[in-house]
Amino acid sequence: MSEIQYQGIRYQLPPGSDLLSALLEQDLRIPNSCRQGLCHACKMIADEGAIPSEAQSGLTDAECIQNQFLSCQCYPISDMSVRLPDDAGKRLTAKILSKTLANGLISLKIEKVIDYLPGQFLTLWKDDINGRCYSIASCSDDAFLEFHIKHVSDGEFSDWLAHDEIATIDVSNLAGDCCYQTASDRDMVLIGLGTGMAPLWGILREALMKGHKGRIIVYNAARESKNLYLYDQLKDISGIECNFSVREHNSERQVDVIDIDEMIDAILEQAAEMDFYICGSENMVKRLRRKIFMAGAMLSNIHSDAFIAAI
Ligand code: FES
Repeated sequence: MSEIQYQGIRYQLPPGSDLLSALLEQDLRIPNSCRQGLCHACKMIADEGAIPSEAQSGLTDAECIQNQFLSCQCYPISDMSVRLPDDAGKRLTAKILSKTLANGLISLKIEKVIDYLPGQFLTLWKDDINGRCYSIASCSDDAFLEFHIKHVSDGEFSDWLAHDEIATIDVSNLAGDCCYQTASDRDMVLIGLGTGMAPLWGILREALMKGHKGRIIVYNAARESKNLYLYDQLKDISGIECNFSVREHNSERQVDVIDIDEMIDAILEQAAEMDFYICGSENMVKRLRRKIFMAGAMLSNIHSDAFIAAI
């Protein structure tokens, strides 16, 4: 059993526990968000002890040299002495410009306090330790940052956001490389499941704004046709090829029941010449990345963002 020293006190780490969970169990206030190694909100520094290599996955060389690591991904292999980095908790405060809740979705617009690439994500903070990562749905032309957040009625963060009177919110940890950077003439394919369409909406608008020359093909998938997210907005955009995939047909929307995997088969012959952007559940993203790679696309041309279950 490893022993962790934090703020001068030693804690026994239960077998199989990650370091973040063990410290939170002790009611210590360690900032955290995704707990999946994506947002980097839980970074700590090891002053003593070996850092498991997976706890530094995704960190920069400079961060690694400083012995920083992700506490949610750290399963200690020896005793460690750890602390928070000096800039832990460094955040920007943004005014909330609008917040609406409709059809189980919170549409949040906040002051644009940071420059970003459409498709990236930010951590939004409820308080000093509780944050959640959300993809940015706005594009660089917008004068605000927009998020489309699934409301979960017993979810600590989304229920607080939906119902509490809040005038400002803290943001930090801009990250993500599923984004549109420079205009290109290659065909681009956007595949989104549910609110996975939110970052793709920003990417799509950015590509149109920058005068993307290749074809733009959109696949918007949902389990039920009534849940096709951004359905009306996508249908109204000219110059793009929009396809909808559902498993169950249960509304007045004229959408064929067809599986997303089956639907994209139609374009896979040209996969090597296309850029792909895939956002949605982890399972779907993994499955489609593999399918598209096996069809001949280079991994560097498959950009993806797997969503964490909403809470
Ligand atoms: S909480 Fe550890 S990386 Fe997000």
